[in-house]
Amino acid sequence: MITDFSERLIVQEVAPRDGLQIEPRWVSTDNKVALIDQLSGAGFSRIEAGSFVSPKAIPALRDGEEVFARIRRQPGVVYVALIPNRKGAERAIHAGVDELNLVMSASQTHNRANMRMRCEESLAAFGDVVALAAGTGLSLNGTIATTFGCPFEGKIDEDRVMGFVEQYLEMGIGAITLADTTGMANPRQVARLVERVLRTLPSSALTLHFHNTRGLGLANVLAAYEVGARRFDSALGGLGGCPFAPGASGNICTEDLVNLCEEIGIETGIDLPKLIAMSRQLPALLGHEVPGQVAKAGRNCDRHPAPWEQEITTV
Ligand code: COA
Ligand code: ZN
Repeated sequence: MITDFSERLIVQEVAPRDGLQIEPRWVSTDNKVALIDQLSGAGFSRIEAGSFVSPKAIPALRDGEEVFARIRRQPGVVYVALIPNRKGAERAIHAGVDELNLVMSASQTHNRANMRMRCEESLAAFGDVVALAAGTGLSLNGTIATTFGCPFEGKIDEDRVMGFVEQYLEMGIGAITLADTTGMANPRQVARLVERVLRTLPSSALTLHFHNTRGLGLANVLAAYEVGARRFDSALGGLGGCPFAPGASGNICTEDLVNLCEEIGIETGIDLPKLIAMSRQLPALLGHEVPGQVAKAGRNCDRHPAPWEQEITTV
């Protein structure tokens, strides 16, 4: 099969949510707002700007209302918030989010660890959320976490994942994210499942959410793109991780993803030099190095002076 690289790849930036939710150092509301405002000017069409979950579960994002009240909304950018239940939806609607990202896990054990509910209870809560959102003009996205593997249960049956896809669609939730919460996916598995899901869903309604926990993140992106997926989550600097999944680590890194796309000729509409500059500010904000590689190495097109030129200039 020859892949058509001319179709744009949509990147949803999730650093303000997935990225910050696991950070031990408190990031002030001012700094969150500044981060989101900078991202809004970097060419993204979608930004997951926070979550409305229990502040006891995720203290790092307890200021969601204030963040959404203070960000400068860029026309054409969809600002998304993750929610686990009806209370989260009420808070998010009140805060004026554009899209609710409803999250549950395919794994019963991870859903109980993360959401303190059985999968059936999550789905029942989402029924209430659909009713609440009806007529508001809000769009809804349903995420299936641990789709490609669970740190408690191991392999997840693909039929079980398909069952949740169908239940979301039946509830009227027309857009779906398949999430690899702890980086257990491999490219062949990704291609197989994405092909299967795209038989029931247009590519404009499917997002892939990969973590780079085992170094396969961008390989999985290409595998998904080659079978028709066009929307991907990623986080600036490669931040991210679920605090309720043992061994969790960062999302695929946005600037590494955009660099890959530029190198192979896939358009993203995102300003890579701006992203790299932003990513280089993260260690100062968070107090540690971040996993992204392109911000450290620079782009292929960056040129360094030859050693002797360097000597002359430093004399
Ligand atoms: N936002 C704020 N507070 C919430 C809330 C929400 N969305 N949902 C519940 N609460 C509050 C309740 O009002 C209650 O408050 P109280 O103690 O002051 O009365 C308290 O949390 C307990 O409510 P309960 O419904 O029993 O929740 P729980 O303790 O069983 O936790 C969740 C369930 C889903 C709220 C919690 O596990 C959660 O927020 N998980 C999200 C984790 C996450 O974001 N993971 C990473 C992203 S995948
Ligand atoms: Zn994630």
